Amino acid sequence: MTEKRSSIHGQWSSRFIFILAAVGSAVGLGNIWKFPYITGENGGGAFVLVYLVCIALIGAPIMIAEILLGRRGRQSPINTMRALVQDEQAHPAWSLLGWGGVITGFLILSYYSVIAGWALAYVFRAAAGAFNGATAEMVGAQFDGLLSSPESVLAWHTIFMVMTMVVVARGVRGGLEKAVTFLMPALFVLLLVLVGYAMSLGAFSQGLDFLFSPNFEKVFYSCEATAAGVEQCHFTGEPMLVALGHAFFTLSLGMGAIMVYGSYMPAKASIARATFAIVLADTGVALLAGMAIFPIVFSNGLEPAAGPGLIFQTLPIAFGAMPAGQLFGTLFFVLLVFAAWSSAISLIEPAVAWLVENHGMKRVPAAAFVGMLAWFLGIGTVLSFNLLSGEEFQLFGKTIFDLLDYLTANILLPLGGLFIALFTGWVMSRSASLDELRMRDGIGYKTWSLLVRYVSPLLVAIVFFNAIGII
Ligand code: PHE
Ligand code: NA
Repeated sequence: MTEKRSSIHGQWSSRFIFILAAVGSAVGLGNIWKFPYITGENGGGAFVLVYLVCIALIGAPIMIAEILLGRRGRQSPINTMRALVQDEQAHPAWSLLGWGGVITGFLILSYYSVIAGWALAYVFRAAAGAFNGATAEMVGAQFDGLLSSPESVLAWHTIFMVMTMVVVARGVRGGLEKAVTFLMPALFVLLLVLVGYAMSLGAFSQGLDFLFSPNFEKVFYSCEATAAGVEQCHFTGEPMLVALGHAFFTLSLGMGAIMVYGSYMPAKASIARATFAIVLADTGVALLAGMAIFPIVFSNGLEPAAGPGLIFQTLPIAFGAMPAGQLFGTLFFVLLVFAAWSSAISLIEPAVAWLVENHGMKRVPAAAFVGMLAWFLGIGTVLSFNLLSGEEFQLFGKTIFDLLDYLTANILLPLGGLFIALFTGWVMSRSASLDELRMRDGIGYKTWSLLVRYVSPLLVAIVFFNAIGII
């Protein structure tokens, strides 16, 4: 047995604060912006079902594994992996896991901040009453207006990145964690209000149908008409990869964010129970967002596959039409910005914690350094929707934003998660994981062990290799 470690960065003051911080990291743009638009692009119900299966069989067990590693190592992901490699006398290559996470977090933050900047811009639009009585066309034109102006998107991206750096510089136990205590429930209530509004629309059941009734043929077979006019269909694993990748993205898994938060977790708290609460909250918010958005899509004759602009082109119509919509709209985008903010800080915490540990940097310069790098890379995403949106600037038919999104969510996070599962399930000793989970060797532990050793690695590997065309 190794001696119990403690974190030099401090600890959450209670188990409850840990759950709040982790929910703050998990619930963000992934739930409200990304989940609806990828569901729309991937045909609805069947995609949602695959996503939910990925959350239950892959996301939840890997979240337990990632928190476990963090709390056992009690350091930034890079040094945590180094320490655990020593404990278990494992191959040093496992430490690459920490490095991969730091880089992935930084890549995600670069575009995450740009989208959060859109939400920030919408706070002021909503407050100014820009949506009052707006039609779908007006709302669409307003969105295009914002995106076609690189200067304004860049300005909002800059403001959001500065907000993130300020909180990270002060340390993760600062005020934001307390703010999350009432902001997250408020976001939840506002989503309920929006779902209530959606219920009043004629297309409510059509929206629910789209979300919840699975049509596997539509989603997993792509068909083309041949020259002779015959339809030819073949199986496509791509939506499965997107669903898998999103399960990691939405739960903040596979890059060390949850690991580093776990390293600040009080020793006594139960990891399995915390995971249950985090997964439930995250999934609930995503499903509510979908239930609010798709009825608006269908009742206005909009396109579910509209892409990254989907929430910005639908929700303002609702705010423009409902009573007190100006107030609700402003509040909604404020809360969305807070949700994005509490996720963004967890994206650079692994890098900042590492700079503090290994280079003796103070938190302020460390946060400023990482934030500025991510800000700079973010310019690529800013321009992906205007100056660099043309085909001549694309690679494999993807803009810089598309490439960053694909690389991080669909490749790097699932790979990171796969190695976290393999390390925890196969390299770490049973006595160590039992001890850290504070569990007996009963049915709960055995189920988790089965999932993390066999089920989740196999599923990730199959989906992954299928999508890149190997099997
Ligand atoms: N989970 C966050 C969201 O859904 C995004 C995120 C991914 C945060 C990875 C941290 C790490 O918005
Ligand atoms: Na999420």
